[in-house]
Amino acid sequence: MRHGTDLLRRTAELAVEYLRTLPDRPVMGEHDVAALRRELVTELPDEGEDPREVIEHLAEVGGRAAVAMAGPRYFGFVTGGALPSALAADWLTSTWDQNAFLYVAGPAASVVEEAVGAWLVDLFGLPPASGFGLVTGCQMAHFTCLAAARQAVLERTGWDATTRGLFGAPEIEVIVGTEAHSTVHTALQYLGMGRDRVRRVGSDGQGRLIAGELAETLATIPTEMPLIICLQAGNVNTGSFDPLRQSIDLARQRDGTWVHVDGAFGMWAAASPDLAHLVDGIGPANSWATDAHKWLNVPYDSGLAFVADAAVHARAMAPPHAAYLEYGPEQERDEVSWVPEFSRRARGFTIYAALRTLGRSGLRDLVERCCSLAQRMASRLAAANGVEILNEVVLNQVLVRFTPPDGGDPDAFTREVIRRVQADGTLWLSGTTWHEMAAMRISVSNWSTSEEDADRSVGAILRCATAS
Ligand SMILES: Cc1ncc(COP(=O)(O)O)c(C=O)c1O
Repeated sequence: MRHGTDLLRRTAELAVEYLRTLPDRPVMGEHDVAALRRELVTELPDEGEDPREVIEHLAEVGGRAAVAMAGPRYFGFVTGGALPSALAADWLTSTWDQNAFLYVAGPAASVVEEAVGAWLVDLFGLPPASGFGLVTGCQMAHFTCLAAARQAVLERTGWDATTRGLFGAPEIEVIVGTEAHSTVHTALQYLGMGRDRVRRVGSDGQGRLIAGELAETLATIPTEMPLIICLQAGNVNTGSFDPLRQSIDLARQRDGTWVHVDGAFGMWAAASPDLAHLVDGIGPANSWATDAHKWLNVPYDSGLAFVADAAVHARAMAPPHAAYLEYGPEQERDEVSWVPEFSRRARGFTIYAALRTLGRSGLRDLVERCCSLAQRMASRLAAANGVEILNEVVLNQVLVRFTPPDGGDPDAFTREVIRRVQADGTLWLSGTTWHEMAAMRISVSNWSTSEEDADRSVGAILRCATAS
């Protein structure tokens, strides 16, 4: 069959079978690296092998070793699953295999991006004419937004970073909170602004930037100095939010200051009237970065960059003209102008399917359900002896610390409980260090997690904390 119809039907069966067993799999699959290498790393064959055998082998070994992070009891990092509609759209995306860089290379891909961009700008309460780009993740969303920031603050001094680079350019000051996510620093690293050459503003016990310290730092920076401030909506450990309105108001007292918001998962609080106060005041920032592969639950990889000044966004991102390219006339969206990519996957389809099937109410339910499950897990854990919740559970993140019954070292014991939970297989989560204390991180971000999953997971955690 020329297009492999039988193979694809068989593959769909294998994929559906994987999904059927997903909720009951040990969450950490097989991970003996030596065994995996024995099964997967072979000599490149001289002659091609039978496609069905190759795919069945891959499905068997890959499926066995897959981490069940798309399933309901994966609480590691900040990880969404894949809504069935988004996964289905992902299959179509690969099937159509559009190179979504120019309108002419995928008209529907381009128009769907327009729809998605408009919906999200509205949902997050951003300026309606904002530019947006669909990128691989929040890391590249930061890169995109901070490239636009760099362009804008230097343009004010008469310097065009796009064409001239940074050699001889005026210096730029960058302010970040001490709790800024590492990907903000990495974006600064990639953009020649130096990941450590930043002014750090202190944060409080929940990881929120302290506005008073921001004001003090601002007072030390000459008013004509190009300046970028990076704020955070959703701390990766605690879920806390910087005082966004207050900080942006402070920034607005200086002309031309660029404010960037890292809202990798926290921006989605905007979908819930009960939680929207957490992102209150983000509208007047200049750029915003978030992810669809986290809380919207579309498959990897899917990040979103928004820039209020669409023209500066495009000046920072659009590649130089090449004679062989066919750009659409002005009213068509050529995606290449908005992202640091050239050939690229049509990322809009999955987001489109997710947003249409959820609707505003479904998205609100998804966000609120995750938060209430986080509350439920926190309160059940807190009720047990020797368990302490270290953060105010304002969103979907919980930090847990364990004291051993014999009064031993809580850091070592907390790490041991995490190790036991990871080995147990009922759920998966990871650890962190919070204010010099070892802590267990629980992040509830999956559309399919139920109360039963939350309770079963708490049961397994407490079992691991009491096992000797
Ligand atoms: C606050 C924050 N910013 C940025 C990121 C990076 O996102 P990505 O992995 O999609 O690049 C994360 C990831 O968890 C995050 O929590």
